[in-house]
Amino acid sequence: MALQLGDIAPDFTQDSTDGTINFHEWAGDNWVILFSHPKDFTPVCTTELGEVSRLKPEFEKRNAKAIGLSVDPLDDHKAWEGDIKETQGHGLNFPLLADADRKVSSLYGMIHPNANDTLTVRSVFIIDPSKKVRLTLTYPASTGRNFAEILRVLDSLQLTDSQKVATPVNWTEGDDCIIVPSVDNETAKGLFPQGWDEKKPYLRMVKLQK
Ligand code: BEZ
Repeated sequence: MALQLGDIAPDFTQDSTDGTINFHEWAGDNWVILFSHPKDFTPVCTTELGEVSRLKPEFEKRNAKAIGLSVDPLDDHKAWEGDIKETQGHGLNFPLLADADRKVSSLYGMIHPNANDTLTVRSVFIIDPSKKVRLTLTYPASTGRNFAEILRVLDSLQLTDSQKVATPVNWTEGDDCIIVPSVDNETAKGLFPQGWDEKKPYLRMVKLQK
């Protein structure tokens, strides 16, 4: 069965551009963005890996680390690195798993045989510090991902883990949030002394205090 939200992200040991990685040990206390891409020396993948490298400071601000994967061998990954830097302006600064034996892609269901029976699709897993899967996304090979969206989800997960709120459509950091329905108004008064805008009893918008 496919990995589902709340499952423990399977552990593995695999070769990478940063040496052999034991996944849970490597993840440590960080949030992790584990993502697959179909193939080395391909145009969309080249842009994605440059972008993830560019965003490294944003991941770090959120106590998060990125790790990529494709089923190409390590030698190909290493040969490709120079092209990423040359064309995207950012060299690879996170590990790229060389999953030639498909160990990790099988564990995570990253090969969708009816799309392509040998290459990985564009999967994304956000994994929290307790190793639970908190987001799964699957994109087709022809569509490069929007990593700003992945950062947005990370912000939402970290916020909603720490406060009794959920984030509305198109929310970004700093926007108003929603008081979760499990919090009654009496409790909400203590949690949100700044008050809230009650559009419906179940839709209470709140501006979070800094
Ligand atoms: C790409 O990264 O450009 C790509 C990879 C596999 C299939 C289609 C596009």
